[in-house]
Amino acid sequence: MLVIRKLLAHERGELSDHLLRMDEEDRRLRFGHAVSPERILAYATAIRWPQTWIVGAFVDGVLRGVAELRGGKRPGDRTAELSVTVERAYQDDGLATRLLETALLIARNRGFESLFLLCLPENVKMQHIARKFGDRMSFQDGDVELRIRSPQPDALSFFAEAFGDAVALWQTALTWPAAPPTRELPQAT
Ligand SMILES: CC(C)(COP(=O)(O)OP(=O)(O)OC[C@H]1O[C@@H](n2cnc3c(N)ncnc32)[C@H](O)[C@@H]1OP(=O)(O)O)[C@@H](O)C(=O)NCCC(=O)NCCS
Repeated sequence: MLVIRKLLAHERGELSDHLLRMDEEDRRLRFGHAVSPERILAYATAIRWPQTWIVGAFVDGVLRGVAELRGGKRPGDRTAELSVTVERAYQDDGLATRLLETALLIARNRGFESLFLLCLPENVKMQHIARKFGDRMSFQDGDVELRIRSPQPDALSFFAEAFGDAVALWQTALTWPAAPPTRELPQAT
């Protein structure tokens, strides 16, 4: 079963396991350069949860994809950064698109007005996906910056997020294992 839901701070281990299961090339595409397993662990530990929302795609209880929405350090910042990853075996099935849709809804309801996503120029797949949500693209220090304007929140957008949270809670309760799942070890790099 596929469950799309927000991650909680105590689930940083699931996030790092997911990033460690990504192959080297996909990790390079995500971070813009090669990243060691130690850097991944440090990255997951350093997440500023009050300013960060992470939407996860859990397939049969294992986190296989995430969209991260990171707000600025200054309170009142109206711009946020997006990033997205999906493990290779789960790609091309619409997961990144669904994760980004949910992250955009969260951004809208938190009052962000402008979102950006950085990717490498050769990442044409990401550019294709981002064009579904926005069409402003520029080059910045060797990266491609994709800009997405976020509309004002309204009653419907708040309802849509609350409804999504409730559905995810219900799905999680339905699939809650009698015994905790054994954690899948990340692939050796
Ligand atoms: C980019 C990434 C998140 C996409 O995940 P995904 O779940 O496969 O994406 P989706 O299935 O939602 O969408 C794939 C789309 O790209 C299209 N696509 C696939 N390969 C493509 C290519 N080589 N060039 C252009 N478009 C391509 C698919 O046709 C599909 O488009 P459609 O929805 O219009 O049919 C995933 O490949 C990944 O994790 N890459 C490594 C990390 C990364 O690059 N992150 C982006 C920078 S933050």
